[in-house]
Amino acid sequence: MTDHTVSRRAALAGLGGTAVLGTALSAGVLTAPAATATTGTPAGSNAHRARQGKLEQRVSQLLKRMSLAEKLGQLQLVNTEDLAKQALAKTPCGGVFSVVGAAKLNALQKIAVEQTRLGIPLIFGLDVIHGYTTNFPIPLGQASSFDPSVAETDATVSAAEARRSGITWTYAPMMDVTHEPRWGRIAEGDGEDPYLASQFAVAKVHGYQGEDYSAGTKLAACAKHYVAYGGAEGGRDYNTVDVSIQELHNHYLPPFKAAVEAGIATVMAAFNTVAGVPAHANRYTLRDVLKDHYDFDGFVVSDYTGIQELIMHGVAGNGADAAAAGINAGVDMEMVSTNYVDTGKQLLAQGRIRQSEIDDAVRRILRVKFALGLFEHPYVDEAGEVTSVSATARAKARAAGSRCMVLLKNDNALLPLKRTANVAVIGPLATATFDLNGTWSGLGTGANTTPPVTVVEGITAAGASVTTAPGCDIDSADSSGFAAAVSLAQKADVVVLALGESAAMSGEASARSNIGLPGVQEQLLAAIVATKRPVAVVLFNGRPLTLQSTHDTATAILEAWAPGVEAGSAVADVLFGQVNPGGKLPVSFPRAVGQIPIYYNHQNTGRPADPNNKYTSKYLDLPSGPLYEFGFGLSYTTFTVSNIQLSSTKLSRQGGRITVRVDVRNTGDREGDEVVQLYIHDPVASIAQPVRRLRGFNRVTLTAGQTRTVTFTLGTDDVGFYDNQARFLVETGQIEVYAGTSSAADLKATFSVV
Ligand code: BGC
Repeated sequence: MTDHTVSRRAALAGLGGTAVLGTALSAGVLTAPAATATTGTPAGSNAHRARQGKLEQRVSQLLKRMSLAEKLGQLQLVNTEDLAKQALAKTPCGGVFSVVGAAKLNALQKIAVEQTRLGIPLIFGLDVIHGYTTNFPIPLGQASSFDPSVAETDATVSAAEARRSGITWTYAPMMDVTHEPRWGRIAEGDGEDPYLASQFAVAKVHGYQGEDYSAGTKLAACAKHYVAYGGAEGGRDYNTVDVSIQELHNHYLPPFKAAVEAGIATVMAAFNTVAGVPAHANRYTLRDVLKDHYDFDGFVVSDYTGIQELIMHGVAGNGADAAAAGINAGVDMEMVSTNYVDTGKQLLAQGRIRQSEIDDAVRRILRVKFALGLFEHPYVDEAGEVTSVSATARAKARAAGSRCMVLLKNDNALLPLKRTANVAVIGPLATATFDLNGTWSGLGTGANTTPPVTVVEGITAAGASVTTAPGCDIDSADSSGFAAAVSLAQKADVVVLALGESAAMSGEASARSNIGLPGVQEQLLAAIVATKRPVAVVLFNGRPLTLQSTHDTATAILEAWAPGVEAGSAVADVLFGQVNPGGKLPVSFPRAVGQIPIYYNHQNTGRPADPNNKYTSKYLDLPSGPLYEFGFGLSYTTFTVSNIQLSSTKLSRQGGRITVRVDVRNTGDREGDEVVQLYIHDPVASIAQPVRRLRGFNRVTLTAGQTRTVTFTLGTDDVGFYDNQARFLVETGQIEVYAGTSSAADLKATFSVV
């Protein structure tokens, strides 16, 4: 089992093959990967090559004409109109972010294009994370759809709205895999699995950039945060991360690698350290892995003051040190802080940075600007600016909203509700508006003027007769509203209880040490449950919550996340059965905070949990495992997965393929969606392997009684893994395959890698 072979294909192109690529930490020979493009045009095609060739020529010609000051200016990204104007009057900066409004952006662009010596256009960035004007569900919600087309639709709609409004660059997709529900930024990513996150990252890149991001409806995308930001110790934002090389490559890097292969234009460095070296000063991750090994040819932007923060991290004594560290490591553009422009000339004179490094950084930035078509079309048509939510975008957001919801419990088939029901809609989120957008919303023009549909509005529009009372606030100790809520519950057929977090409780700098329902919401639930009315809890939250008592007492639980502008309508679509919920959890829900980190793709340990044996890996005071496992989610119908068949019992290590077939059957009495999931486990390997690794999923819609055969393909890229020298290994031996409807899947087959 330790017989490794090496192949570029597996590690680089994500195709089959056998092992790897060179050394990890030494500046060694990392083999060159398949070419990547700054646009979606298939790398290697003639059209792509011709376009690249011409573009590179234009970059070189412009670079030759630039002074050192003009080059350093391109490396600067500022975030206000005033700073942009100041820079343009002196040394033109490369870009501006967080300024919105077509007229404002055109005015700045006019100065850059018409009043500076070389007329290099500005790139305009914004955090278009899950919507520009039209807010879609938060990314964690989108991942729950287990349908990457949901993410692609969001990205397509958002890109068009933003580009038509003058924005050319989005700081998305965020693809930080994490095991940390305390970390507020879990809301911005795809959860705990690198495979799922990779599929969603690629879908988003396609949606934002399309085949050619010079199009008037596309944006340059940005893979963030590079890398391992989701590993923040204790879930505290910006905190230290110390990962092994194998964990870095197996767990955190795959979505970035996939995004580069999909042609992503830019990458953002992360705030954290990686094994003691801040990501902004990390030559290994930025130069060796990203730029050399993955062959990324776009540019790397720092995060907000990330270069300056090298001083606080304790790896730079002053701004000049910080700039030298960032430039040497491979951060091309500095966001907000100004160490590159301030000290670049001096550093060059002192030989602490090289001219070739500056030229390479400028070249990368210009490459993206040319690919965006900014030199041909620097301005946006102000008449086309998007300042309101269109009916089409609204319909897409509504469909996405319901597709992302996860049914966690449904005793006595309480849901779907009858439209004739008398519904008491209770809870602090019953009439909430902007909180239903979640984090990173309201940044685009017009976004703030379009409040999401409330739960009360959605349920009323569905035809039910509705009474409502908040019961309590989201996060306060005041229970004086309980009595009024209880009295409404007593008179109703059913209670819909809208509970959860405010938008500000997740996202950046929003870690929570206790991830239960905030304030007195659990007590409100208890008071409502005491009325003996059936209670459907609808949850709005940006992270997994600890829900044991909710699980024990509510009749039904629907995880709605933060669904966006059509929130209330999408909730009603699911509650009344217009849409049969089919989402699955992209992250484990712990029973208690003390279990964190808890994730499905853990290693076995030498003493796997055994309730009958004290000396095994578990807590004395909790059952093993999460409350709801990764991949879990119910439906209004039921499904079975059976009859697993492999096309062969042997997979050649030299790049073979095995087809896995399973039958999925709708065993209930209504149409519904199931996500068939495929996991593998390598029981004997040179590096202990996760007990399950997701390697395929397929969301299918089946009518009552219908059976469908679902097919997956496994290759060496699926069974291989990285070791602690960053070598991709495909080892001989047995592989277990599991298929089912969650990570607890136990329908099993095996094959051998030979
Ligand atoms: C965040 C990034 C974001 C940037 C620009 C930072 O604080 O970490 O995710 O893109 O700000 O707004």
